[in-house]
Amino acid sequence: MSDAGIDTEKPPEWDPATAWKPLVKADQISSAEIYTKQRESCPLSLDTTERGQRLWHAFRSSDVAEILMNTELFSSAVPKFGKPMIPIELDPPTHTTFRRLLSNMMAPRRILRYEASIRSAVVTELTPLIEARGGDLVPLTYRIPIRAFCLLVGETDDSVFASLDQKLRATAPPFERQDQQATDQRAAAVAPLIEFCRERLLSRRGNPCDDLASDIANGQINGSLIDEDDATRMLTLIYMAGHDTTAMGMQGAISLLARHSDAQSALRSNPARIPSAVEECLRLEPPLHTLPRYCTRDTTLAGRSILSGDQVYPVFGAANVDPEGFANPEVFNIDRKPNHFTFGRGVHTCPGSPLARMEIRVLLEELLRRTEHFDLGADASRKEWPRNGYKKLPIVLHV
Ligand code: HEM
Repeated sequence: MSDAGIDTEKPPEWDPATAWKPLVKADQISSAEIYTKQRESCPLSLDTTERGQRLWHAFRSSDVAEILMNTELFSSAVPKFGKPMIPIELDPPTHTTFRRLLSNMMAPRRILRYEASIRSAVVTELTPLIEARGGDLVPLTYRIPIRAFCLLVGETDDSVFASLDQKLRATAPPFERQDQQATDQRAAAVAPLIEFCRERLLSRRGNPCDDLASDIANGQINGSLIDEDDATRMLTLIYMAGHDTTAMGMQGAISLLARHSDAQSALRSNPARIPSAVEECLRLEPPLHTLPRYCTRDTTLAGRSILSGDQVYPVFGAANVDPEGFANPEVFNIDRKPNHFTFGRGVHTCPGSPLARMEIRVLLEELLRRTEHFDLGADASRKEWPRNGYKKLPIVLHV
C-alpha cells in the first residue's frame, strides 16, 4: 500500500521484447514510468490470445495518431453487439453522415442547456458526502452521468438506468472476444437498454421535447427521417459510451487533485483555471487506456508486419505521456492545456467530450468550493487495465 492509500499491487515483471502483458493494476503514479519503459524497449508489441487472435499495442504518440487517423487501414467496423453501434462501429463514408448529425446535436452550445440541472444533481449527490466528511466517491461518480443521461432523454427515474446498466455490465463478455458466442452474449446483455431507447425515441417522434432523444428521433439522414433502428443504436451508444467513461474521468480528476494539495489551493483561489486542470487530469488519468481497431490488409507499422485481421490497440494512456508530444509528461501541470488523446483523434473523436468535460468541471467546482481541502482515504482499489478508474475511492473531506 502506498502513502496515498492506493492499492499498488506490484506490477508483475514483463518482457518487453515479446508482449505487453497489461496485468498491471497500474497506479497512476507509475503508469508514465511503465509506458516510458515500454515505449523505449518495444513501442509496438504483439501478443496472441488463447484463441489465436493477434493483438498489437502501440505506445508512441506518432503511431497512435497514425492508427486513429487511417480509418481505411485500421477499421472500427467490427460489430461487438451483433449489429453495429452507430457511429462507433462504422467507417467512413457511412460513419460520416451519422457523425455529422451527432456532432451538431452534442455541440458545446447545445450541451450548455443542461449545465444548471447537472449542477443541481452534483450538489444533491455531494451533500451527503460533505456532511459525512468523506466516504467512497465511486457511487457518486456513477450516479452523476446517469442523471445527465436522464436529462438527455427526458427521464425522471434514474433507477431505470442504474438497473439496466448493472445488468449490462454484469453479463457482457470483454470486447477482445470476437467469437460468435461472445457477440451473442453481449447482444443479449444490451437488449433491454436498446428496447428502452427504442421506446423513448418512438415517443419523441412527431412529439419532440427539448432533449437529445427528440433531436435523434427526428434527425434527418440524407434528407430522410432517420431509420428507427439506426436512431436506437445511436442513442444506446451514447449511454454506453458516456457512463463508465465519465465516472472514471471524475474519479481520476479527484484522485489526482487529492494527491496535489498545491493544485487544489490554486484552483480554489482561481476557479477559472478548473477547465484547464480538467484537461490535465484527463491526460494523466485517461478513463480508457485504449480501444481496438482492426487491420484491413497486411501492412507495416513501426517496422513491424501487421497482418489483415490483426487487432491493433492505440494506447491513449501511453501517447499522453510521450515526451514527443508533452514536455515533462510525468508532471501534473494544471495550466498545460494539453492536446491529449483521451477522447481519441480523427473521425471518431468523442462527440460527448463537451458533456463529459462539463460534468467533471462542475463536480470539481462544487467540491473545491465546498471544502477547504480533501485527501485520499485508505484502501482505494483500482479497476484493471485498460479501464482506468476505481472500484473504491475513499476520500476525506475537510470543510
Ligand atoms: C471522460 C469521458 C469520456 C471519454 C474518456 C470518452 C472517450 C471516447 C473515445 C476515446 C472515443 C473514440 C473511440 C474510437 O476512436 O474508437 C469516444 C467516442 C465516442 N464517445 Fe466518448 N468518451 C467520454 C464521454 C462520452 C460521453 C459523455 C458521451 C455521450 C454522452 C460519449 C459518446 C461517444 C460516442 C457516441 C462516441 C462514438 C463517436 C464516433 O464513433 O464517431 N462519450 N469516446
